[in-house]
Amino acid sequence: MIVKIEGNQMMTPSPIASRDLYPLGEAPPLGAVPKKMHASVIRPDRYGQPQDAFQMEVVDVPVVGDAQVLVYVMAAGVNYNNVWASLGKPLDVVAARRKAGAEEAFHIGGSDASGIVWAVGKNVRNVKVGDQVVLSCAMWDPQAPDVQAGADPTTSTSCKIWGFEENWGSFAQFTLVDSYQCLPRPQNLSWEASAAYMLVAATAYRQLMGWAPHVVRPGDPVLIWGGAGGLGCMAIQIVREFGGIPIAVVSDEAKFEYCLQLGARACINRKEFSHWGRMPDLQDAEAYGRWLNGARAFGKKFWEALGERRNPRIVFEHPGQDTLPTSIFVCDNGGMVVTCAGTTGYAGDVDLRYLWMRQKRFQGSHFANAEQCQQLNQMVMRGRVDPCLSQVFPLSEVGQAHQLMHDNVHPPGNMAIRVGATPV
Ligand SMILES: NC(=O)c1ccc[n+]([C@@H]2O[C@H](COP(=O)([O-])OP(=O)(O)OC[C@H]3O[C@@H](n4cnc5c(N)ncnc54)[C@H](OP(=O)(O)O)[C@@H]3O)[C@@H](O)[C@H]2O)c1
Repeated sequence: MIVKIEGNQMMTPSPIASRDLYPLGEAPPLGAVPKKMHASVIRPDRYGQPQDAFQMEVVDVPVVGDAQVLVYVMAAGVNYNNVWASLGKPLDVVAARRKAGAEEAFHIGGSDASGIVWAVGKNVRNVKVGDQVVLSCAMWDPQAPDVQAGADPTTSTSCKIWGFEENWGSFAQFTLVDSYQCLPRPQNLSWEASAAYMLVAATAYRQLMGWAPHVVRPGDPVLIWGGAGGLGCMAIQIVREFGGIPIAVVSDEAKFEYCLQLGARACINRKEFSHWGRMPDLQDAEAYGRWLNGARAFGKKFWEALGERRNPRIVFEHPGQDTLPTSIFVCDNGGMVVTCAGTTGYAGDVDLRYLWMRQKRFQGSHFANAEQCQQLNQMVMRGRVDPCLSQVFPLSEVGQAHQLMHDNVHPPGNMAIRVGATPV
């Protein structure tokens, strides 16, 4: 029964779910919202190794606000942020939310998903029940003064990452998002592949294309750390698509072929070098000399890989403490080191002489705004960027998937969790 027409959208009441809880893999009738759902949940008393922190539980399905969308999750993506959530550091996500007024004493992670719109709030116009969507992970308050004043919403003080800082992520039968987080699902992909790319690919897209004039141009050499990792495999493809020359760094020659197939011109094995970590004190001439020799040798290796004596115009950073001094050193004069993380530590030493004398830019970058997500999604829909789906796990093994990531023994590419989708 149609009860109300607002704008172009027909509003129908949600059918009543005939059961309070549905088994995993069995969907309620379209639009019928049960009271409870299965979820992989982190609680503070389990903070620690990911394989122990995540446990299957039955929890209430969240209530949908006026501008929100409830999505039936078909598949979820695995990202490093829920390794951090498991560990309870550097951010205790549950404590932070409760301090801000949230009631739930648990965390449902998962910042990537593909699924079906199951219920919408009364102010939602861009999607309707039954739409197939992928979800982007940045949430912000559209009424926040900085957003209203025209700031990029990802720089807003109200910006939070869904499924990490915000609750009700995708490791559950249903997830709750703001309507602007919904994007059309690429129909050329499986549910699992659809769930695997948005967070890392949109982050890489902003790093590489969001900081003009330091965007990838044809012929630009780009150094990509962790080329076979989640961010790295997206960065290689994006650089390739814009005509740049991706040079990937990995820790094992077994990963070379993977990166080359994605479009890297060449790969470097970081295990051939040992100068990683914080820079020695500049007063310690001997230690500094050793460090400088290591950084110079790495720079030469980059030229060898590129096939010419040119430095990277863009360095795609995320390991942080271990690699940043080298990134700043090898970056071209007038080039940019752009970072979105500090996986190996947050004390990233910068020798300021190289920054100012050679006029390099050191830029922070965090996920992507709505336009950047759309542009990236178009590239995926056109088949120009592959999600690099590596391995699929059931919902009960969310912890194991994150443990592999924590231990850096996960397969190259991006892992996904099958939630409502049926195996093909
Ligand atoms: N701010 C944002 O918006 C944002 C978005 C996405 C991810 N991130 C963060 O970015 C980081 C990476 O995410 P990801 O999804 O790419 O993770 P990932 O799949 O684990 O890939 C990271 C890669 O880094 C490399 N690596 C590990 N230790 C290293 C070291 N000491 N030196 C150099 N390279 C090292 C590894 O490759 P090799 O061992 O082969 O070198 C690994 O494959 C995480 O901290 C994540 O939280 C931030």
